[in-house]
Amino acid sequence: MSAEPLIKQEDILKRVKSLAEEVAKDYEFDTVVGLLTGAFIFVSDFCRAMPRKDLRVHFIKASSYGGSMQSSREVKVKGLDSVNLEGKKVLLLDDILDTGHTLSGLVKMLKEKGAQEVRTCAFLDKPERREVDFEVDYSGFKIPNAFVVGYGLDFDDDYRAYPDIWTLEEE
Ligand code: XMP
Repeated sequence: MSAEPLIKQEDILKRVKSLAEEVAKDYEFDTVVGLLTGAFIFVSDFCRAMPRKDLRVHFIKASSYGGSMQSSREVKVKGLDSVNLEGKKVLLLDDILDTGHTLSGLVKMLKEKGAQEVRTCAFLDKPERREVDFEVDYSGFKIPNAFVVGYGLDFDDDYRAYPDIWTLEEE
């Protein structure tokens, strides 16, 4: 792990609050869809920081990472079958945007489920890693091309409970 955090807890919480306010002013959404597992803390903090509370909140599981540091191209989704998105204005929340395969694939899937509009928000964005032509509508921080952990983000399910965001160096 890096000697110093990449983003400290205090800065994370400030940015979540300003991001929630920014999105609330710009988009009248009624439904949040959060991605497990990495975004579980971000979604919780974001919803509490949202000035508006008349929201439905769903979690679905999307996996594109196994135990490796490489993103696979295939997006597997669990939990979407039981979610009714017909006519909903959805905000899809993820922890980090990397190659773009996960969010771009999911936007299509949510629209196929009848969502009226789908916008995306990723707390972190690694623009250098993009492999598909996709940009998020809202993001918290742009970060360099490094593998990061903490604030819900993991390596092999470790580090999720760390309150700061750290860079994980490959051994
Ligand atoms: P794509 O490549 O589809 O990937 O945009 C998004 C998903 O990949 C995971 N991811 C990471 N997870 N540290 C993590 O703990 C990272 O640096 C990282 N980069 C990508 C993450 O699950 C995200 O939803």
